[in-house]
Amino acid sequence: MEFNLKEIEKWAKEFKPLPTKIGFLDNRIEEMRNPEGYVADYYNFFYTLARDLEPKVIVELGSWQGTSAACFSLGSPESLVITIDHHTDPGDTLNKQKTHEACNASPGLMYIQDGLAHSFTKKKRTSTPFLVKVHILLCLIYWTAGK
Ligand SMILES: C[S@@+](CC[C@H](N)C(=O)[O-])C[C@H]1O[C@@H](n2cnc3c(N)ncnc32)[C@H](O)[C@@H]1O
Repeated sequence: MEFNLKEIEKWAKEFKPLPTKIGFLDNRIEEMRNPEGYVADYYNFFYTLARDLEPKVIVELGSWQGTSAACFSLGSPESLVITIDHHTDPGDTLNKQKTHEACNASPGLMYIQDGLAHSFTKKKRTSTPFLVKVHILLCLIYWTAGK
């Protein structure tokens, strides 16, 4: 499917968030609701975008709790989704744990933290040499960008 950033911007403006009907995601999105009732609609948008575009590979820099990565992965289960975070700030123990939970709920999701791949269950149609190449590339990006 052909698309450009302008089109994605237009889709985002017109987007009407609906529950994904995937328990893990809808619960995570609900957890983000603040006391004023604001909920981060961009999670539903990421889910829909991945579902409609079905990219082969999605790379996210900045996992935090792995929620956006899970939205990409569960939106497009055949995609390889890689999420990267240093997770060394105060409070990141919980964020790391939540990212592992997101990986457990999303079989195509790979979490790279501190240069190491974690929590990658299984990816259908993704060969080991391909995964090794992707991993090496991402580790290079990670180490050259600095933590
Ligand atoms: C705004 S949060 C990400 C939110 C997440 N994508 C979501 O939508 O729920 C930014 C994250 O980027 C991570 N981060 C910032 N600089 C980084 C770097 N140089 N390398 C890896 N992760 C980084 C932080 O640790 C933090 O968890």
